[in-house]
Amino acid sequence: MEMTTDLVRARSLVQRAGRIVVLTGAGVSAESGVPTFRGAGGLWRNFRPEELATPEAFARDPELVWEWYRWRRELVQNCEPNAAHHALATLALSRDGVRIVTQNVDGLHARAAVARATALGARVDAAFPLELHGSILRSRCTRCETRLGDDTQARCARCGARLRPDVVWFGEMLDPDVIGEAQRLARNADLCLVVGTSAIVYPAAGLASLARAVIEVNPDVTPLTSTADISLRGTAGAVVPQLI
Ligand code: OAD
Repeated sequence: MEMTTDLVRARSLVQRAGRIVVLTGAGVSAESGVPTFRGAGGLWRNFRPEELATPEAFARDPELVWEWYRWRRELVQNCEPNAAHHALATLALSRDGVRIVTQNVDGLHARAAVARATALGARVDAAFPLELHGSILRSRCTRCETRLGDDTQARCARCGARLRPDVVWFGEMLDPDVIGEAQRLARNADLCLVVGTSAIVYPAAGLASLARAVIEVNPDVTPLTSTADISLRGTAGAVVPQLI
């Protein structure tokens, strides 16, 4: 991507902003080989959300739902963070007041955070994302508070109830503490940098409008494009490293 006027303006906005919230969606991981949900090749083209990503689907056929999540777990474990994840982790580690908020459940921001923190000799916490929709790398108990890292057992060792993927399904509420913290960060932010989301799933999509300014990075137009201060048309892996 050449240095367009918009890119130069956007770089200046990033440099001047005191507090930045980075909101990411599936598009930030597309160049790592993780399929997005919508659009050509998107997961929702080949799978029906109501059969796989709802509490009703899990109650009806937990094995089918688990099979789909195990497939996605394995898929993301075989992918690597890309240049956009690394650039965002570097931004969060090298400046105060930057926080990554993601709708993604693939764990790639966290892996980039660990890699960059190790390389920079920095504390990793600043680059760990707030995960609005949970993580497919964790399971949680359907009855008690137990959460587990990557684990294939079917039942909770503490209470015996069935385990489920630790993600937010359609029809479920986001963790109020997590979305509350994201909204607080967005309200206090000078800039929301929105990368690779179709911006149609709420409440995540509503975060950008809380910040003072918005830069969007996406190869396509989204509902945010018309109100964004700057819209950079391109892929995350190409644009984000140039922006930061
Ligand atoms: P979507 O699949 O809805 O949108 C992906 C966005 O990424 C689109 O706007 C694409 O144009 C853009 N995109 C594609 N390739 C890109 C690239 N290389 N670089 C940058 N952008 C690219 O994914 P999300 O917006 O994340 O929710 O979807 C939001 C939520 O809907 C997901 O978290 C999931 C889904 O149903 C739950 O599962 C609760």
